[in-house]
Amino acid sequence: MLVSPSLLSADFSQLENECKRIERCGADWLHLDVIDGVFAPNITFGVPVVKALRDKTKLVFDLHLMIREPLRYIEAFAGAGADFITFHLESESDPQATIEKIHACGLKAGVALKPKTPLEAALPYLDMADMILVMTVEPGFSGQSFMADMMPKLKALSELCAGKGKYIQVDGGIGKDNIALVAENGANVAVSGNSVFCAENPQEVIRHFHRY
Ligand code: DX5
Ligand code: ZN
Repeated sequence: MLVSPSLLSADFSQLENECKRIERCGADWLHLDVIDGVFAPNITFGVPVVKALRDKTKLVFDLHLMIREPLRYIEAFAGAGADFITFHLESESDPQATIEKIHACGLKAGVALKPKTPLEAALPYLDMADMILVMTVEPGFSGQSFMADMMPKLKALSELCAGKGKYIQVDGGIGKDNIALVAENGANVAVSGNSVFCAENPQEVIRHFHRY
């Protein structure tokens, strides 16, 4: 399991130090939740913050856009230093055009599904996308409870993607108590906010996740 700690659970007054701390703790990627207050009910950060952090860490920048019209902002986030850009299939932008734009910028593309969105919505894009994100909470905030009822969707997705080398990401409420469950159901990238950033020993939590 790859581990992508969510910066949304970091100390926002210390973002540079927080990136460096989580890198030293063995994180594989850094998950950056961009929320616009319209697509989801929170406002986090945007292009300038991503850009300011880019040279503070070598971690892969795994952007999770929870914004309206993501296609409009792909070039700006690519220029800011994103490695992966994941956008929501429930946003207004045409998914195929958005994936093509992300690839044209030289980045990996992810498509995300809110809990109520059926897997069928992602089927036309499975071949094009590098990553599929199954949300296990409603987008917006760290620290929400994991939705175990997303496991059939995750399992069906991982069966469809078997042998295709796709990243299958889960995001929301992931911790030591459910990492085995999401691994069994086919996830290979775990996003984790509170369970990693707020842990007394993040290194130990990341090592634990790496066993799956
Ligand atoms: C929620 C975000 C998540 C969140 C995860 O909208 O997409 O990445 O920060 O935080 P935890 O792991 O605390 O649920
Ligand atoms: Zn996220």
